[in-house]
Amino acid sequence: MKVITIDGPGGAGKGTLSSLLAQHLNWMLLDSGALYRLCALAVKQHSIDPKNEQAVATIAEHLDVRFVNEDSKLTILLEGQDVTNEIRTEQVAKLASQIAPFKSVRQSLLNRQRAFAQHQCLVADGRDMGTVVFPNAPVKFFLTASANVRAQRRVTQLQQLGKNTDFDAILKDIQDRDDRDMNREEAPLKPAHDAILIDSSDMDIKEVFEFMKNQVDKIG
Ligand code: C5P
Repeated sequence: MKVITIDGPGGAGKGTLSSLLAQHLNWMLLDSGALYRLCALAVKQHSIDPKNEQAVATIAEHLDVRFVNEDSKLTILLEGQDVTNEIRTEQVAKLASQIAPFKSVRQSLLNRQRAFAQHQCLVADGRDMGTVVFPNAPVKFFLTASANVRAQRRVTQLQQLGKNTDFDAILKDIQDRDDRDMNREEAPLKPAHDAILIDSSDMDIKEVFEFMKNQVDKIG
């Protein structure tokens, strides 16, 4: 089935835009980062050493997850437990990027990700959707924004939730995660050779969405 891929670093707006595009097309959405986050959370819950590739790979292989979509609300279950909010913390994101370089972990999650596109068209967002998981996708986007802009967006989000924020600490987390994602050997974060590059630093969500929609509508 057809797939549109959106890759890029954390905080560039991939989540919001892939969801808008999936709604526009009435296609399924694959948030591949959620799979890495779920794997990280399972590693934590089972007190596995995140440096032990074999043990982490076993967790990835047997990951018991369910995505339940009811009344347009997505609930994510890990071993039957609702972890929809828990996987969104910075701590889980950091752990996800520490286990994501393992080849065997990526291999286990690869098959799961491809299975999503077996029976339905898909908008897939992540780091290697266009380069590794769906290399034949007819439209690929690489969405980025400067680290400063991404950190500022995160600060605003957290402030809206009434949480304390520390811009410098958030910026450092973003830079460290970018560094791990871009410099690993397996499926590093980079644009596919045929990806459309979008720098959203000076664009709002609506502008990026309109641009993407135009590109997608061209393929009919
Ligand atoms: O996109 P998200 O921030 O949820 O991803 C969390 C982490 O999972 C990323 O920093 C990255 O290390 C890993 N990831 C990956 N490949 C993907 C999606 C996410 O390595 N396709």
